[in-house]
Amino acid sequence: MLTVRAPATSANLGSGFDVFGVALDRPADVVRVSKADRTTISVTGAGSQFIPEDPEKNTVGAVAEALDAPAHIRIDKGVRPASGLGSSAASAAAAAVALNELYDRGRTREELVPIAAEGEAVVSGAAHADNVAPSILGGFTIAREDGVTSVDASIPLVACLPDIVVSTRDARRVVPDGARMEEVVETVGNAATLAVGMARGDPELVGRGMADPVVTPSRAELIEGYAAVRETAFDAGATGVTISGAGPAVLAACYPGRRREIAAAMVDAFDDAGVDARAYQTGIGRGAEVFR
Ligand code: HSE
Repeated sequence: MLTVRAPATSANLGSGFDVFGVALDRPADVVRVSKADRTTISVTGAGSQFIPEDPEKNTVGAVAEALDAPAHIRIDKGVRPASGLGSSAASAAAAAVALNELYDRGRTREELVPIAAEGEAVVSGAAHADNVAPSILGGFTIAREDGVTSVDASIPLVACLPDIVVSTRDARRVVPDGARMEEVVETVGNAATLAVGMARGDPELVGRGMADPVVTPSRAELIEGYAAVRETAFDAGATGVTISGAGPAVLAACYPGRRREIAAAMVDAFDDAGVDARAYQTGIGRGAEVFR
């Protein structure tokens, strides 16, 4: 038997829609695998009642199939589904790393990214790598068609998760079909600023680079209280605020020492909007870890 812990992630970071992602140092999914003649899946933990255990319908079933690695797979969810914190990706990433080890398949971490992304397609309808890449590799990742670039980065973050559900499918339906040239120019500037901020470990640049004039405004409509939460987080010292992944979690970047105040302010603002929420005081963390 083998155990893998794979972290929650935050994709997009505003300006990097379907491209940027970071591993969060908490929360995380834990997956245990043992060899079997056919794949079985059991799920416990946060939101497990909403997750199918049928291998045809669960992200990890597709991963086991792709690696030709049938196994008994036990998933302990630390990351609630439909949260915007890469819940299905954490399970897919953990399963890919675990089954690769269990069956000694010899794939590199980079090679496991598209395999885990296929698992993602089972739940979201499309194979995005922007959550599985950081969950497998850790740090800040740039996922492109032709591969993934990753860098270690250290930026304090707050991920505030409201008690509402936004499915990735629904959140993708509101993504605009196109963008005006001035929005494209602004987005390129923001994304470049954010990437440099990650490389330098500069919360100011990362926060400024999170601004997104194209996708985030449409998705904000799906999150009750988003505008107030965003404003409150800035007032409490955030350097940047955006929707985490497809939402509804809201991500704030900040300088060290500001997380507690920002977390409290975001939870209060959701509360004022009539929405229960919890906040993770977190940061950019490591990728999937194997325990024998
Ligand atoms: N980039 C994806 C989205 C992340 O925002 O829809 C969720 O899979």
